[in-house]
Amino acid sequence: MLSKRDKLFLAAGTLGCLACPSCGAALTRSGDDLACPNRHRLNVNRKGCLNVLSAQVDSCYDADLFAARRRVFDAGCYDAVISAIEALMPAGEHRLLDAGCGDGWYLNALLTRHEGWSGAGVDISRDAIFQATNLPCTALWVVGDLRRLPFADGSFTAVLDVLTPANYDEFRRILAPGGLLIKVYPGSGYLRELRAARGLAPYEEGQVDAYLREKATIVAEKRITMTHAVSDALWRDFVWMTPLMQDLSAEEKNAIAAKNAGSVTVDLHVAACRMEI
Ligand SMILES: C[S@@+](CC[C@H](N)C(=O)[O-])C[C@H]1O[C@@H](n2cnc3c(N)ncnc32)[C@H](O)[C@@H]1O
Ligand SMILES: [Zn+2]
Repeated sequence: MLSKRDKLFLAAGTLGCLACPSCGAALTRSGDDLACPNRHRLNVNRKGCLNVLSAQVDSCYDADLFAARRRVFDAGCYDAVISAIEALMPAGEHRLLDAGCGDGWYLNALLTRHEGWSGAGVDISRDAIFQATNLPCTALWVVGDLRRLPFADGSFTAVLDVLTPANYDEFRRILAPGGLLIKVYPGSGYLRELRAARGLAPYEEGQVDAYLREKATIVAEKRITMTHAVSDALWRDFVWMTPLMQDLSAEEKNAIAAKNAGSVTVDLHVAACRMEI
């Protein structure tokens, strides 16, 4: 069985598009490191990921949040998003970048279901990427910033941006000609029961959609609106998985977790976009 580090080298070799964060030259394997012709070296750690951040960033997304997210994903509450992405992807093999991949659940689902697809996941949170490296797929996991991606121009046939901030200029740069951006963003009903439990009004749509349409052309889209019945345990995981609650203390989160609303709505836009100017 391949070690996590070997899996990363395999994924990096298949994609062949890693660019040195210092000088932009191609990075290739050199022992347990990656190195560029200008002698810059990047360590691949035993967990099977690269860190290209020049300084560690404090993230409000911690290991507890990603563990709760994983349980919510495993309960099937976001399976429809995978089906929607698959329906929007053109036929054929793909090189995917999941920008702001979190714990890697989407990328893993897509790579394990589609032989011949390869991919990379980048997230600024180390906790997220450490969790992603435990997944079965062979992917290039990178702790990095989606505003400055360590990939050559035109490297990917598709970029996924799921409930994550975007940097459209950077996405355009790393997409191959004819490549697609798949953007997943909230509809007005998204997590409305959790918002209500926190005393928040429903999500106001408009801003994300307007900015996306300014930067890209939506060529096809799907809307997912599902209300899931939730057990007390799953409600608790939703409370702990959402950034909506991240500024609350553990005590405050537990108080909301103790009052199960009985259901949670997942209302999302899944848009396939062209980025050519
Ligand atoms: C709501 S989570 C979504 C994660 C994942 N796409 C999912 O749907 O489970 C937002 C993610 O964006 C990441 N993120 C925020 N700013 C980022 C940046 N500048 N570069 C890379 N990742 C970023 C966070 O660490 C977090 O994992
Ligand atoms: Zn270099």
